[in-house]
Amino acid sequence: MRAHEAGALHGDLGSRGPAWLRTPENVNALVPELWPRTVTRDQAGALTIGGVSVPALAAEHGTPAYLLDEEDLRARCRDFKEAFAEADVYYAGKSFLCKAVVRVIEEEGLFLDVCTGGELAVALAAGFPPERLGFHGNNKSPRELERAVEAGVGRIIVDSFQEIDRLSDIARAAHRRPSVLVRVTVGVEAHTHEFIATAHEDQKFGFSLAGGDAFAAATKILDEDVLDLRGLHSHIGSQIFDTSGFEVAARRVLELQSRIRDARGVELPELDLGGGFGIAYTTQDDPSPAGDLAKRINKIVESECDLASLAKPKLSIEPGRAIVGPAVFTLYEVGTVKDVDGIRSYVSVDGGMSDNIRTALYDASYSATVAGRASAAEPLLARVVGKHCESGDIVVKDEFLPADVQPGDLLAVPGTGAYCRSMASNYNHVPRPPVVAVRDGASRVIVRRETEEDLLALDVG
Ligand code: LLP
Repeated sequence: MRAHEAGALHGDLGSRGPAWLRTPENVNALVPELWPRTVTRDQAGALTIGGVSVPALAAEHGTPAYLLDEEDLRARCRDFKEAFAEADVYYAGKSFLCKAVVRVIEEEGLFLDVCTGGELAVALAAGFPPERLGFHGNNKSPRELERAVEAGVGRIIVDSFQEIDRLSDIARAAHRRPSVLVRVTVGVEAHTHEFIATAHEDQKFGFSLAGGDAFAAATKILDEDVLDLRGLHSHIGSQIFDTSGFEVAARRVLELQSRIRDARGVELPELDLGGGFGIAYTTQDDPSPAGDLAKRINKIVESECDLASLAKPKLSIEPGRAIVGPAVFTLYEVGTVKDVDGIRSYVSVDGGMSDNIRTALYDASYSATVAGRASAAEPLLARVVGKHCESGDIVVKDEFLPADVQPGDLLAVPGTGAYCRSMASNYNHVPRPPVVAVRDGASRVIVRRETEEDLLALDVG
């Protein structure tokens, strides 16, 4: 291989890829953990989802498109609900929210966590019962708080002293007594990307436990007769595999709980341990099933409560990614294939960082497969890139694709249900793709494709 002019760091990874990535024996094989549960290859080698052939979906709905396996989404809701049978399971709407998904969440008996007025509006527009909503955010506006109080949102998770004052004023004026949780920063260094870790001390969310603010916030709320303090809340971060972070968090919030009991004689009846459960994006990820998570989390909460002579509070959790992430794959069409001088093969698709910013933002890894056919060609290490005017516009950093991958091929990238459509942008004036739900042999558009007219309609100048 020719040495790269920018040096070995840039030049020598091309043909080998990262150490964890194995050359597949069969480049057409699907790793089941990475795909929605109904996805298979049909006789002709094309992918099918929900009993519908993926090339047919591409012909009907176009590419790029997010294809959602509704059966898989419902199954993951049930997995969490059954595993955490005694807890309230809040689906974290920030991962992906639209009215059809809100209805699924409602029908499956889950609760729903929203964190802006916009997410609240989607939930209410879909008729979600407000008492099953939790409302988060470190800077909810007075208007957002008013709407939440008026709507009768079940739990408001307070995040600052100013918010306690604002919410008290709003509640008093509305003659309501909203139920609140205190967001506690427990000081856990979650092993995940820095941008999605949320419980170390130096960040914007919550009240510090170590500094005493969390205790002060709880007692301030207990002194406010218009707020009903139901419990404490901790969320340590996202895409977490190691449950020890949850254990430390549970221990620390329960210590705070017993201090509040000792000081004020009040045992808070609820405890929310947040979301963050990791999913498999590639073969290097090994997530725990919901049942195992539930066992470990329940055990630690029970033993900590025993130690502190506390009654076990009613638990809540808030998974987003683990429910919707694996239920979706993004379908693209290949436009160009470029072999860059023996360094790397670049496969360009008709989307990119506008429909999946996670690779660029968090250095996330994804996998991919040719979706429209099976191939007899040898595996070729490739990089899947988008169509944006930026060299960091990478969708899949490293993946083995068949060496005969070519323009016109359909390419599927799994694990894109969470934080892809919800973080999509219009960079380069690229309209955002639709979300198409597939179930029992039928497909329906649940979020339509944006058009250039939609974008131009905002441009009133
Ligand atoms: N609860 C709270 C209070 C949260 O802040 C979050 C995520 C969740 C629950 C749900 O976390 P999940 O189970 O989905 O990991 N955009 C990033 C993730 C940001 C997560 C923000 N909060 C990403 O693409 O990885």
